[in-house]
Amino acid sequence: MSLTGKHIIVGITGGIAAYKTATLVRLLVKGGAEVQVIMTPNAKEFICPVTLSTLSGKPVISEFFTANTGQWNSHVDLGLWADAIVIAPATASTIGKMANGVADNMLVTTYLSAKAPVFVAPAMDLDMMAHPSTTRNINLLRSYGNHIIEPAEGELASHLVGKGRMEEPENIAKVLSEYFEQDKPLKGKKIMITAGPTYERIDPVRFIGNYSTGKMGYAIADEAARRGAEVLLISGPVAIRPESKEVKVIDVESAREMYEECHKHFADCDIAIMTAAVADYAPATVADKKIKREKDEIPQIELVKNPDIAASLGASKRPGQLLVGFALETNDESANALDKLQRKNLDMIVMNSLRDAGAGFGTDTNKITLFKRDTTSRSFPLKSKKEVAADILDEVALLVDTTD
Ligand code: CTP
Repeated sequence: MSLTGKHIIVGITGGIAAYKTATLVRLLVKGGAEVQVIMTPNAKEFICPVTLSTLSGKPVISEFFTANTGQWNSHVDLGLWADAIVIAPATASTIGKMANGVADNMLVTTYLSAKAPVFVAPAMDLDMMAHPSTTRNINLLRSYGNHIIEPAEGELASHLVGKGRMEEPENIAKVLSEYFEQDKPLKGKKIMITAGPTYERIDPVRFIGNYSTGKMGYAIADEAARRGAEVLLISGPVAIRPESKEVKVIDVESAREMYEECHKHFADCDIAIMTAAVADYAPATVADKKIKREKDEIPQIELVKNPDIAASLGASKRPGQLLVGFALETNDESANALDKLQRKNLDMIVMNSLRDAGAGFGTDTNKITLFKRDTTSRSFPLKSKKEVAADILDEVALLVDTTD
């Protein structure tokens, strides 16, 4: 079972089957997932939070605020962090709240904020299970796209025999791992991504650089890995690392180094996405000692042109390879982006404008327009960089389908 790098929220509600969820958490962690347990207040009557925090390696979340520190547990951040949510056991009461948007605890609030797939493993007595309100609520959850892991038949905690036993932890873990296996549209594809700025050395302590933080490129790398691609990230100097352990990183400093690495690996790749903010110029010579302040003279730095990495890859692109570029513009955005698409022989260009609040360097959000070779374009609203990465890769997958 492979759940490597997956972020899974395990929601536990107040039913006797909660004791089995300890095994589920253990299986998910063993499969490589990072697990965050969220318990409803009633769940804590059935199983001790310490058991679950020990097994998951993370403090259990139950309240909107952590009691001793007053720290706010953000349901929005949790919802975005999750690749999947599994609620096991799900009582009739929680299912009813989820179906009807009754957000009176941390678990249901997180459920309502989340974009990830949701798996619900009901557990209750047979008569509760058979009640029309339960049936209606479960059908509502299905209509929202949630996956119901049907309870099994057997002896229940009440000693009655019927349908209502929570599915065994081994089977719930299997459902999740099978889900992630088939949710890998980029499986078998090799993607190279450039990210971050480049630093062009002036002397041992100074450089020419820019404000790029690498967030957009890293978000694409993580999302591509999540979709099953083999990802190589060629990164300029940034302060972040990919979330996914599956992403292979090659660190470079200058445009020249980035160029060399890109050309070393491009022939092997199916797709290259160029998000790096490459410096267009570099000092003609690098001083080997720190340049000292002169009394009367102001030093002049002579610049030479850096290679255009994207354009050079565009020139050596073979049929079937896809090349995607970025254009961060301040004016004449569409015309500039389309010009770069043609000039660099790209298949698609992602345009973002510094005129849009929330777009560009350093932010956690971006607002993009995608242009393709046939000059069709698609504009998206302001979204988190994670969501923007998903939109870009959706379009890339469509292009892959047309070239395969
Ligand atoms: N790019 C590159 N190598 C360079 C410059 C740019 O690979 N030396 C890539 C960027 O990663 C991006 C695309 O080309 O995908 C456009 O980058 P941008 O800096 O906007 O393009 P320039 O050609 O440098 O145009 P401008 O005059 O706007 O700076």
